[in-house]
Amino acid sequence: MILILSLACASREDDPEVAAVLDLEGLASQGAPLYAENCSTCHGEDASGLDRGPDLRNFTAAGEPRYVEQVLYGTGYSMPGFRQTLADQEIADIVAWLHEQ
Ligand code: HEC
Repeated sequence: MILILSLACASREDDPEVAAVLDLEGLASQGAPLYAENCSTCHGEDASGLDRGPDLRNFTAAGEPRYVEQVLYGTGYSMPGFRQTLADQEIADIVAWLHEQ
């Protein structure tokens, strides 16, 4: 955890919503259908990427605050934010599933 916090940019782990998601324990089995429904059209069914979205399989613990922030708020470019449509627990579940890819 210290490693994650020290590698992450301050604004990210300080964000209460990012911190709330990171505090939850995700369930990959719950995340799989949520990923398929919300993310696979752009990132591919197996998260290996499509021309609409990058490969997400290099998902690492150190990058997690940044990834969670992008899922919550969107990237500001092509990817929408999901904080209005997905619960914190659902995002944690998707993250757990991504770790297994
Ligand atoms: C409409 C297409 C689209 C959807 C839907 C989408 N994404 Fe993305 N995503 C992108 C694009 C494109 C990028 C690259 C940054 C950009 O251009 O906006 C990205 C970037 C990301 C990144 C950062 C990757 C990196 O290496 O920095 C993560 C993490 C991510 N998406 C996760 C998700 C998850 C999880 C979902 C579903 C909840 C999702 N995305 C849904 C298009 C999408």
